[in-house]
Amino acid sequence: MKVLKNYKELSSTVADIVEYQIQDEPLSRLVLPTGSTPIGLYQELVNRELDWSHVITFNLDVYIMNPNHPQSYQTFMKKNLFNRINIYPSNCNFPDRNVEVYEQKLKGTPIDLCILGIGSNGHIAFNEPGSKFDSRTRVVDLSEQTIEDNSRFFDSVDDVPKQAITMGLGTIMESKKIVLMANGKHKLNILNIAINGEQTESVPASILQSHKNVEIYYCD
Ligand code: F6R
Repeated sequence: MKVLKNYKELSSTVADIVEYQIQDEPLSRLVLPTGSTPIGLYQELVNRELDWSHVITFNLDVYIMNPNHPQSYQTFMKKNLFNRINIYPSNCNFPDRNVEVYEQKLKGTPIDLCILGIGSNGHIAFNEPGSKFDSRTRVVDLSEQTIEDNSRFFDSVDDVPKQAITMGLGTIMESKKIVLMANGKHKLNILNIAINGEQTESVPASILQSHKNVEIYYCD
């Protein structure tokens, strides 16, 4: 794990990795997260004015809710990144209930770079504790902890969707390179458990110990 000075440095370090990837391979296939952590990364990427015209993206997960809702992950991505770069909307993929189709699209050509955040319970994407290490894209129930954590984005905890569609742990692990970003002291304990603890389905992020090309960046 690399510890960075502050959120600005976390965002620009991961932006460097994305920039290098897109310049090295204009036809890159990227997996992208939502949540609070990558907001600075997306701002940094917008500022860099890269050529996204051949890039294909896949989002890690979506809430089961109206995609036009202000808190949907589709809206988040448009607002923070897609509407501000020259990517083709048809190249921006989100999981939907047709999970087999998403899996087929992902399997077609390997993902070059997958960016992840981590939940306070060790989830990656919305693979909550107990998710199978070989899981694929599917509908999941969100844990109480995740509903509570994400209630900060909604008027009340009751407004947080209870279900989501997420890429699986097995799906994520097929990416050629994985970068996990984490921001805030409240993530440090779970990061240490995921990186140094036993590999167990109770801590979904611990699966990353088995990936041969993973980088983890943290700031307080
Ligand atoms: C969202 C996702 C989640 C988040 C995690 C951390 O697409 O994949 O696993 O990365 O819940 O969220 P924040 O960044 O809000 O702490």
